[in-house]
Amino acid sequence: LNLAILISGRGSNMENILKAIKKNKIPIKPVLVIANKPDAKGLDIAKKLGVKTEIVESNGLKGGNWEYDSKLVSVLEKYKVTPQNGLICLAGFMRIMSPEFIRHYKGKILNIHPAILPSFPGLHSQRQALEYGVKYSGCTVHFVDEGVDTGPIILQAVVKIKDDDTEESIAKKILKQEHKIYPKAVKLFAKGKIKIVGRKTIIS
Ligand code: GRF
Repeated sequence: LNLAILISGRGSNMENILKAIKKNKIPIKPVLVIANKPDAKGLDIAKKLGVKTEIVESNGLKGGNWEYDSKLVSVLEKYKVTPQNGLICLAGFMRIMSPEFIRHYKGKILNIHPAILPSFPGLHSQRQALEYGVKYSGCTVHFVDEGVDTGPIILQAVVKIKDDDTEESIAKKILKQEHKIYPKAVKLFAKGKIKIVGRKTIIS
């Protein structure tokens, strides 16, 4: 099984997944990290951890666009990340994937979202949670389908929101949970323990 991780920035989830794979001997090979921005901080971290990196620049091309996503597919194929033996983890990859890309890698794309879906999909979920006044929020690892943050849910983790929390403090505690559940989900996938049934997953 070959893993590619797609990032746009900091790459802390990417770093954490790469380290967990090594430490916990998760049966998957991280073959590639792709960034859509040349200055994505995570690129250096990936290199330091011995993982190949590629930049597929997206400047100007809007999300949900096959013109860009087909370039991703070419790069992924070059590194043998295929629908048969691949897993693609979106980790702070700030683009909507096109329906063509999602169909091509159906059931092989994971994403982490910083809220308890279906609450607060889209951007700035931590701010949305703060402004709504919820007492709990958290994060969700899910399969990517053709909607925005709508695919079958694999794992979720909850954090408590206190009266004096800010967008930053919420983001920080959610991120801590992201770092716990994303590697767990990768491990479940790598061990063939996740089955998609309709819009749900069953984990064995
Ligand atoms: C995370 O909060 C993730 O949930 C969201 O984007 C952020 C990425 O952070 N999709 P990092 O690049 O993994 O540090």
